[in-house]
Amino acid sequence: MTDTTTRTVRPKIRRTHLSLFVSNPFASASWYERVLGMQETARGEQWVFMSFGQKHHDIALIRPEPGIVVGGCALQHYGLEIDGDITELRRLYGQLLKAGVEVVKTTDHKVGYGLYFNDPDGHRFEFFCETVHDDEEGKRVLHNYNAPSDHFELEPLYD
Ligand SMILES: [Fe+2]
Repeated sequence: MTDTTTRTVRPKIRRTHLSLFVSNPFASASWYERVLGMQETARGEQWVFMSFGQKHHDIALIRPEPGIVVGGCALQHYGLEIDGDITELRRLYGQLLKAGVEVVKTTDHKVGYGLYFNDPDGHRFEFFCETVHDDEEGKRVLHNYNAPSDHFELEPLYD
């Protein structure tokens, strides 16, 4: 007799990683090192794996097969929560500007501040600085304010 009882298995995600097609994985790897503070952990002829310092890889940079349009993957943005406060976010803003990185916008999300910028292929990233540190409170605030993305004048710091 077959057991027809089914149990819903709910994925419990520990961490995420992102794999991107880029036009030049090696040039992108040095940009990701310089701008995102990442370390290279492995490389092949057509790819480089990058880490934020703990996991073996957090972002993979892959050269596509011919016919695939780089930057056309419909990624809206990939958010990176920084370990630091708004002063740190202002410093990162100053560094991005000094490095000539294309900054898209700076926003107030009520649960924190966002700083959006593009990688060399136009993939959009966000450094976000959380201001609400309790996750349950963060869900409430985001819901009550309807997940806002208001313009916020962030002053870059150059020290
Ligand atoms: Fe975001």
